[in-house]
Amino acid sequence: MERSVYFDNAATTPIRKEVIESMHSVLLDTYGNPSSSHSFGRSAKTQIETARKNIANHFNANPQEIIFTSGGTESDNMLIRCSVQDLGVETVITSRIEHHAILHAVEFLAQNKLAQVFYVKTDTEGVVDYNDLAHLLAADDSKKLVSLMHINNEIGSILDLERVSNLCKIHNALFHSDAVQGVGHYAIDLEKIHIDFLSASAHKFHGPKGVGFSFVRKNSGLNPFILGGSQERGLRAGTESVHNIVGMAKALEIAYLNLDEEQGYLKRIKQYAVNELKAAFPDIHFNGCCSDLDRSTCTLVNVAIPVPEDKASLLNFHLDLKGIACSKGSACQSGSAKGSHVLEEVVPEEFKSRPSIRFSFSIFNTIDEIDYLVQTLSSFVEGH
Ligand SMILES: Cc1ncc(COP(=O)(O)O)c(C=O)c1O
Repeated sequence: MERSVYFDNAATTPIRKEVIESMHSVLLDTYGNPSSSHSFGRSAKTQIETARKNIANHFNANPQEIIFTSGGTESDNMLIRCSVQDLGVETVITSRIEHHAILHAVEFLAQNKLAQVFYVKTDTEGVVDYNDLAHLLAADDSKKLVSLMHINNEIGSILDLERVSNLCKIHNALFHSDAVQGVGHYAIDLEKIHIDFLSASAHKFHGPKGVGFSFVRKNSGLNPFILGGSQERGLRAGTESVHNIVGMAKALEIAYLNLDEEQGYLKRIKQYAVNELKAAFPDIHFNGCCSDLDRSTCTLVNVAIPVPEDKASLLNFHLDLKGIACSKGSACQSGSAKGSHVLEEVVPEEFKSRPSIRFSFSIFNTIDEIDYLVQTLSSFVEGH
């Protein structure tokens, strides 16, 4: 029988059953508009505020600091653009391996001369050069925002949030982190680590699509960015997506309740995948530092696979045919096909001609599925 294996959890995760149940109940019974003053409205408002409080608790944050949005892209755009518009930020420091939600937002700022943008150096492991960051922060007296992602969505390298936060403190800069790939998978204590702004998205931690949140530290001075009603303390107007918000809170509750157990499971899955891939393909290249479980997320590997040149373009098609869902992404070669901007930065020249693939895991994956993947890859490469 044909198999169906989902290894694309960094793109999106399946919703947990309990999350669907919580959303279902809201959709059926709590249909009031949270802004209405009657009992139907008040019930919906209570659901939202309970969700806000529970979400804030996971991060040691204040409920007022959680602003619901439509997801990671909106949070990233809003936080970057409003920092410049409202807080007098003149310089944004980011990296070339951020998600496009950040890169395109900062390009917009630079093109329209709203802020100058500098890109901190990153190495072939996808690790930020902290000395270069300190140097950029000290370069002039302009008001600065540092925007660096917590976990890279393509290669999985983990940022040292505390180190960046300390550097920002020394230089009196604001710090935003796109934590879309980290929230729900790793603990983040916002009381311990001074981060001014953070972006999260529910569909990356087994919640619904189209909902996320921004953490906006108290007294940040941000002005409303969607104008209209007084929802979300006036910052983001619009009737709240109650079922999505409740679903997100449920997904996060389960994620953090089971964090150690699920992280342990994912680490075993990933380590097994790394070992089996190495055994099957001794000269495989792990992009960034993704084979190192201490420095990269337990949720993914990204590999440059040694495939004979004549077969390289067929690899993704073959995996899809075999029921394996994953994400392709290759460094672009001699400027031809548009490749991944992240791999372009981190993959050493000698591996750039190989197809690179990201396999990203969730707790619903099994060791048996990794065996199937490695067998499928081996028979494709060996030609039988
Ligand atoms: C690191 C990162 N930032 C932002 C986003 C965008 O999030 P959303 O899909 O919720 O808009 C993604 C999604 O792929 C991501 O991985």
